[in-house]
Amino acid sequence: MGLNRKDLLGIRDLSVEEIRLILDTAEPMKEIIGREIKKVPTLRGKVVINLFYEPSTRTRTSFELAGKYMSADTINISTSTSSVVKGETLKDTAKTLEVMGADVVIIRHSATGAPNILSKYISASVINAGDGFHEHPTQALLDMYTIKEKIGGFEGLKVAIVGDVLHSRVARSNILGLTKMGADVRVIGPATLIPPEIEKLGVSPFTCIEDGLRDADVVMVLRMQLERQQKGLFPTIREYARLYGVTTDRLKLARPDALVMHPGPMNRGVEISPEVADGVQSVINEQVTNGVAVRMAILYLLTGGGNPHETIN
Ligand code: CP
Repeated sequence: MGLNRKDLLGIRDLSVEEIRLILDTAEPMKEIIGREIKKVPTLRGKVVINLFYEPSTRTRTSFELAGKYMSADTINISTSTSSVVKGETLKDTAKTLEVMGADVVIIRHSATGAPNILSKYISASVINAGDGFHEHPTQALLDMYTIKEKIGGFEGLKVAIVGDVLHSRVARSNILGLTKMGADVRVIGPATLIPPEIEKLGVSPFTCIEDGLRDADVVMVLRMQLERQQKGLFPTIREYARLYGVTTDRLKLARPDALVMHPGPMNRGVEISPEVADGVQSVINEQVTNGVAVRMAILYLLTGGGNPHETIN
């Protein structure tokens, strides 16, 4: 049984059962990437295209590797060297990729909703790799996989998300996913960086980091989007680091075995101290590895995959 849907556009659309299926399917995928020869024939003959209108290291590379490990033909399109710079529309670019035989198009775009629009234009599967301030569903799925792998489940788990929640598609997708799975989610940050009425998403807001971190099982640190500083939403980087940086002392307020997570890229010394980023509680590098496994699972399930234990070898 695959995912009974054409596209993966957001966590909001996914049922608890679909999230469980993706996380369960990622387990045998992770076994594959631990092998010396990381290659299975599962997606042989399929064409997977990465169409990124914004920079990326982790997401683009992990989708490329995920496709390659399953023998798909994986192509990267850098919009700065494509006909997009000549004014080609998203619709025409997508149609061009489709008539060349794309089975899956993975898109990152600065505009909220761009993947949803693309999905209506083409019959290929569309995966949202981050759209504006809206959603980054595959990041949330790899974060949930990492939590499940380390802790075992989500019910009643206290997850503290710290930082620029207002502009973070990672935060939004994680809030939607973790609350669906039964976690108790808190968001921490200056009032200017917490969306109004965030409680309606079922989370508790904290402007005092010490209060928000207390007894947390997971501390998820968000990238401080330094480009936002011009908007005057916080005084200075130094001030932000002093008031909201996750340091060794502050981490002691969380449970002693709390996981430290960060989607990357990190601003060391701003939202997270180097000691915390590289400390024993950090699972930041494991998140990156799990990103490949989870994206393999998503590609596999969207292209009609069956029981991975039977068909992957
Ligand atoms: N976490 C994340 O989306 O990283 P990249 O921007 O490097 O893809």
